[in-house]
Amino acid sequence: MTKVIAIASGKGGVGKTTLTTNLASALVNQGKRVIIIDTNLTAPNLALHLGIPAASIVTLNDVIRNEAYITHALYKHRAGFYVVPANVDEIEHNMGGFKKALKPLLGMADVILLDVAPGVNKEVETALKVADEVVLVTTPDEPSLRNALLLKRFAEDLDKPIAGVVVNQAKNVHYELTDEEIEERLGCKVLGRIRYHRKFKESIALGIPFVNIAKGTEQQMLISKIANALAESKTPEKLSILEKIKAFLNRDIVLWSE
Ligand SMILES: Nc1ncnc2c1ncn2[C@@H]1O[C@H](COP(=O)(O)OP(=O)(O)O)[C@@H](O)[C@H]1O
Ligand SMILES: [Mg+2]
Repeated sequence: MTKVIAIASGKGGVGKTTLTTNLASALVNQGKRVIIIDTNLTAPNLALHLGIPAASIVTLNDVIRNEAYITHALYKHRAGFYVVPANVDEIEHNMGGFKKALKPLLGMADVILLDVAPGVNKEVETALKVADEVVLVTTPDEPSLRNALLLKRFAEDLDKPIAGVVVNQAKNVHYELTDEEIEERLGCKVLGRIRYHRKFKESIALGIPFVNIAKGTEQQMLISKIANALAESKTPEKLSILEKIKAFLNRDIVLWSE
């Protein structure tokens, strides 16, 4: 069965696209069949991380407009995973046909990773709705955490379980939020804390995921561990009615104390 995992954050620039491509590569190295999809059609850039010329090929945009079948917009990257890119030269606001368009891919892969747009909006909702679970990405600072919290509530409202949170671009300086603080504030477990490494940017210039050019680094090994945990773990149960009530009450407490 295909597990569909949304990589989401609330805030832009924290590392969703980076995590999507790197988890994909790590999963391929673990023998999994993986597809990644750019569901950020208002600011698409998955193709730009991977050196895919997505302005001149069939993309998800054509599929959404009913002008192509999704398998025609599916490309194999040299890292071994498949990609459905979005057109980097277009802005598409209407994701209406996405759920239906995705169907042929279910069963073709062990894992489908969705690179989700930032914010809490219709575009994000469309992506979350087709996902089995959500991975939150945050940097260890207050603005990013607040946005992640908003997104977590949004996901819970859509009845989507949170697999955990990845803390990214950590520099381990004293003013950063700790994993314990993030777990307590978000109410979900930290899957890993990925430290800042300059090669992440270099990997974009090369069009190949960081894990392929930085083997043996602490970051590569951690990404591999997170990928394994996500692929092997059972999708978290949906919230029971009691847990939903609890989450709702906690939400009020958080709001009142702000
Ligand atoms: N752990 C990291 N260390 C250093 N740079 C990183 C790391 N993770 C991501 N980046 C860089 O941060 C920038 C934003 O990452 P990106 O994945 O595009 O974020 P998002 O998709 O959330 O907007 C990119 O230039 C990327 O190379
Ligand atoms: Mg992105």
